[in-house]
Amino acid sequence: MSESAGAFTNRGQEETTCLPVCLEDLMEDGKIPAHVAIIMDGNGRWARKRGLPRKMGHVEGCKVVERTVEDAARLGIRYLTVYAFSTENWKRSEDEVEALMQLFRYYAKRLLKIANENNVRVKMIGERSRFAPDIIKAINSLEDTTAGNTGLTFVIAVNYGSRDELRRGVTRMLRDCEEGHITPDQVTEETIASYLDTAKIPDPDLLIRTSGEERLSNFMLWQLAYSELYFCDVLWPDFTKEELVKAIGEYNRRERRFGDAG
Ligand code: FPP
Repeated sequence: MSESAGAFTNRGQEETTCLPVCLEDLMEDGKIPAHVAIIMDGNGRWARKRGLPRKMGHVEGCKVVERTVEDAARLGIRYLTVYAFSTENWKRSEDEVEALMQLFRYYAKRLLKIANENNVRVKMIGERSRFAPDIIKAINSLEDTTAGNTGLTFVIAVNYGSRDELRRGVTRMLRDCEEGHITPDQVTEETIASYLDTAKIPDPDLLIRTSGEERLSNFMLWQLAYSELYFCDVLWPDFTKEELVKAIGEYNRRERRFGDAG
């Protein structure tokens, strides 16, 4: 590698033009995390700062999601997971929830095009039955139509909460026990992982949360056990490729020991 990844973080505007070259170096050395998960926070504050309704922050946030999918695909990230709507988000005002539902409707169609253009496979995690039938249909069709794509897997967490995911998984596992498909002493960590919505998806290597908040908010609690956590102050609608590269640069400086003494 020609330069240390850490050098990315303090670069001035002019120097950032060489980022893609440095990223190629990173990719050659296998330093691009395979799975990046993002808690996209700060849409409401972004809108408030501009005197706009909160939903405008989500509209802007969607554009950034779209761009980040393309950036992640180009960088060679294998899995990108975003927290789009939590089990707790239903508590927001009717107007805001409805605006988010309209955005899902609109983006389900747009994403189909973007996903196919970028060889991206789309997968949703979370409990989809609570959504309107047309949204469920759009989600299913997005997954089915992109299932054969072999590039980035874009995972969207909708009506997702980690505790709810565990509750649903445990319920299914107990049923399988009752029906004799597994016995309690056969339950390993891998068994539990296989009952989660993220079965067959590797755990995130890097979690990014924007907007200066430093908590997990019921997101992938099982899967993030050994992930590197990266918090930045930028509000989600202001998130750029340079911010993503900064996070990857920081990830490269961390030493991942998975509990080992090193
Ligand atoms: C957090 O900001 C953001 C959300 C709860 C929703 C995020 C959703 C999107 C960006 C749309 C995603 C769409 C697709 C198609 C994947 P906040 O509203 O909590 O902001 P605040 O903390 O500043 O109030």
